[in-house]
Amino acid sequence: MSKDQKPVVLTCAQPTGQLTLGNYIGAVLNWEKMLQDYECYFGIVDMHAITVDYKPSELRKNTLSCVAQYIACGLDPEKSHQFIQSHVTGHAELAWILSCICPIGELQRMTQFKEKAAKLGFQIDKESENNLKLEHTGAPSQASINAGLLYYPILMAADILLYNADRVPVGEDQKQHLELCRDLANRFNNKYSDTFTIPEPFIGTTGARIMSLADPTKKMSKSDVNRNGTLFLLDEPSILKKKIMSAVTDSGSDIIASDDKPGIQNLLTILGSLTGKSNQELEDKFSGKGYGEFKKSVSESVIEKLEPIQKRYHELMTDKIYLESVLKSGAEAAQKRAFKILSKVSRKSGYYERIR
Ligand code: TRP
Repeated sequence: MSKDQKPVVLTCAQPTGQLTLGNYIGAVLNWEKMLQDYECYFGIVDMHAITVDYKPSELRKNTLSCVAQYIACGLDPEKSHQFIQSHVTGHAELAWILSCICPIGELQRMTQFKEKAAKLGFQIDKESENNLKLEHTGAPSQASINAGLLYYPILMAADILLYNADRVPVGEDQKQHLELCRDLANRFNNKYSDTFTIPEPFIGTTGARIMSLADPTKKMSKSDVNRNGTLFLLDEPSILKKKIMSAVTDSGSDIIASDDKPGIQNLLTILGSLTGKSNQELEDKFSGKGYGEFKKSVSESVIEKLEPIQKRYHELMTDKIYLESVLKSGAEAAQKRAFKILSKVSRKSGYYERIR
């Protein structure tokens, strides 16, 4: 790496619905510094989104909405490359090459695959973990597991290695996939010759973990069935307020950060992250005050933070031409980098050079 080149961070997200306040505090607040320190690529991974049941029209709509949410949150398109995965040639091509050095057993061992298969009523037979024997446990149904679901971690590894990313921000649930990606990169490097950078997880400096308002022992998630536990970036102020005011709290009445008060702890984390105040400062401020007043303060802070983001989002959504121009230049930059790496990999794999 030459001196004037910054290390590369690749962030990817599936275009499924809205960002949550948990995403905002856990990831978005890190972006400003990340854009300064790294060359940042942001992929919207529509190819991953089709591994589960979905509606094409919604996927298309969500893809554009996702870019608008990113930009509204402060992801400056002048300082980063935002692109749609399916717009860059190379993700599927590299995934194919990687699949030919990846044993099936490793894919079947992936926790997320097993969870998704279990949701469809399948369980992997323990005795024959390497034999692709999936037992359908429930009542007979039409359900089947598509190969894409099994293959998903390889496509993810390809996303990362196609850019020779140095760092990848991943949540707890994606660590095993990143580990597989590192294994595949090492395997390729050892089999042919040094080609891929071995990616490391990116750990942000702020990144507090926000829990569900309905069950503060569970992470706030956009796919939670109990939507009252999740604050969405685009929730109307009245909805935000209602959800926060009815957040599960703990017995007692003191506003203190403590492990046996997960509900209050979570609200303190939210308020602290948005205002930059420490637990101690907040405890002092709310000493002697009730839960009601405290929650009102939290909801005011959340609304104050999200209102300008929502306004910007709605403006952006009326300007499709601008959003598409961001995606066009993002894909061009991504393609340029991807193409170099893919050419190298193709040659090392033994593909005959393209005839021009
Ligand atoms: N699997 C990731 C998720 O669901 C999304 C993803 C796809 C990803 N490709 C990636 C994340 C590459 C990081 C890097 O969250």
